[in-house]
Amino acid sequence: MAKVRVGIIGCGMMGNCYAAVFPRDKDIEITSCCDPNPHKLKAFSEKYHIPHTYTDYRELIEKEELNLIGNATPDHLHSKVSDLAMQSGLAVFSEKPMTSNLIEARALSKTAEDKNLLTGVNFSKRSSAALIRAKELIENGSLGELRHIEGTYKQGWIVTEDYGSWKNPDKHSWTWRLSSAHQPLGVLGDLGSHLYDMAEYLAGPIAEISCRMNRFDKGMEKVGEFTLDGWDSFYSSINFTCGASGFLSATRWATGEKDSLTLTVHGSTGSLRINYAEKNRLNLFLVQKGKWENFDLQKPQNQYQIFLNCLKNATPYKPDYVDGCRNQLLLEESLRSHMENRTVSIS
Ligand SMILES: NC(=O)c1ccc[n+]([C@@H]2O[C@H](COP(=O)([O-])OP(=O)(O)OC[C@H]3O[C@@H](n4cnc5c(N)ncnc54)[C@H](O)[C@@H]3O)[C@@H](O)[C@H]2O)c1
Repeated sequence: MAKVRVGIIGCGMMGNCYAAVFPRDKDIEITSCCDPNPHKLKAFSEKYHIPHTYTDYRELIEKEELNLIGNATPDHLHSKVSDLAMQSGLAVFSEKPMTSNLIEARALSKTAEDKNLLTGVNFSKRSSAALIRAKELIENGSLGELRHIEGTYKQGWIVTEDYGSWKNPDKHSWTWRLSSAHQPLGVLGDLGSHLYDMAEYLAGPIAEISCRMNRFDKGMEKVGEFTLDGWDSFYSSINFTCGASGFLSATRWATGEKDSLTLTVHGSTGSLRINYAEKNRLNLFLVQKGKWENFDLQKPQNQYQIFLNCLKNATPYKPDYVDGCRNQLLLEESLRSHMENRTVSIS
């Protein structure tokens, strides 16, 4: 079988993740990579032994003979890069949030359908044995009727500089996350996209959202080319069509927290907790047993392996662009809820 030829666009943190994980599959070959930052590009191509380098993604897509594009660019570029790749007949594995807005997401989803192309959105938090087991327990009725779901995602890098100093964009690649031109939905798209994906994965469709968002003074308005006008925190109260209610929240101002994600589900006959610091451990309470118990589960295949297998075997992948579109709708309606100061219904 000929190898699957991959081009990686964006050589930052997630690009490094793709380049480290994809080649573990012997049928995958990363032929090319692209980043406008020549120093990053050189270091990346040397580290992963990638033969062809480009500073313009359009040139990479035009010149390389590829099967798949790994789109690890900042949020505002997701749509442009993925669209061009699909127009050239390539499968796409893209970072979340799928796009900057719902119009772009729907257009991409339609192109994927029209051209019958495999797509994936990297909702990487699905690679958790505890989350997968939680879904099974909910579906087989072990928790009874779902009543309450809580998801909280806390990072503190604005204060504690856990990922370097965002005040120095030359050294710190995360500064763009603070600019609405580069990350239009701010923390909602960055961390909230995961929370909404996990919430619906476990409990089914969300029917109503009431969201509040906030941004805080950073002592300056601009850093280099980046205007510091992005959203820093959000919290949403939600109602699911199954009747349960819940609460999702995320912030980058959680001083002392580097990357803390927790999820709790309460049902009429049981509850569960997942802490992503130990993402393959499920903490379960069944009324019948009357106590909390820990279950250490076997690490599952990650989303990258699952996607590559689907590409090789021509089988469908989830979460794809249809799921990405749904996620984008929830993000956009959350923003609408905040801007219009009202609860919104989700169709
Ligand atoms: N799925 C996850 O769990 C997860 C985790 C972190 C980040 N992300 C997402 O991944 C994406 C990238 O985030 P990151 O943390 O890797 O950021 P990063 O800043 O580390 O990397 C982004 C890279 O894209 C490059 N870039 C900028 N413009 C480009 C262009 N025109 N063409 C090609 N490359 C370009 C930058 O130079 C940088 O090297 C974001 O959308 C982010 O939301 C997803």
